[in-house]
Amino acid sequence: METTITKIDKEKAWKLRHKVMWPDKAFDYIKLEDDHLGIHFGLFKENMLISVISLFINKEECQFRKFATLQREQGKGYGSMLLDYVIKEAMDCGVKRIWCNARKSKVDFYKKFGLQETNYSFMKGGKTYVIMEKDL
Ligand SMILES: CC(C)(COP(=O)(O)OP(=O)(O)OC[C@H]1O[C@@H](n2cnc3c(N)ncnc32)[C@H](O)[C@@H]1OP(=O)(O)O)[C@@H](O)C(=O)NCCC(=O)NCCS
Repeated sequence: METTITKIDKEKAWKLRHKVMWPDKAFDYIKLEDDHLGIHFGLFKENMLISVISLFINKEECQFRKFATLQREQGKGYGSMLLDYVIKEAMDCGVKRIWCNARKSKVDFYKKFGLQETNYSFMKGGKTYVIMEKDL
């Protein structure tokens, strides 16, 4: 199956974020105040956008946010392809540390990419998150 990863407009990321992450909330709920500063990436399968992630680079640090794969395409390796790709992109941009607010349920998934749990965790929208990080 042919896949491509490219930068995408924030509006495209919004659509998939909403559909996957918070379909029951208003569309604006998934928008971030800083989205205009982010670099948004999408994975396309046969021209259809199925996975998105957004990078926010601040000097030598980079946070990735709003990582989402269309439900019916989850568990097939697409998210891993996209995450691998953006970690390399961050390295190419000179980033020294990449981090995220991981849903507790996704901790083991991110460990596969070398991210480690920090001691910082919090709750938001009824979900528990932990900050995970990796030195590049
Ligand atoms: C997190 C998310 C983006 C991952 O995307 P994905 O495309 O499903 O990712 P992958 O398919 O690469 O990996 C998902 C799982 O499938 C497994 N997998 C990958 N390819 C596989 C294959 N060919 N066969 C079987 N399993 C496979 C991975 O090992 C991983 O397992 P794990 O969750 O037990 O660690 C996706 O689950 C999602 O959108 N979730 C809802 C939103 C969300 O929680 N976002 C993250 C907030 S922190």
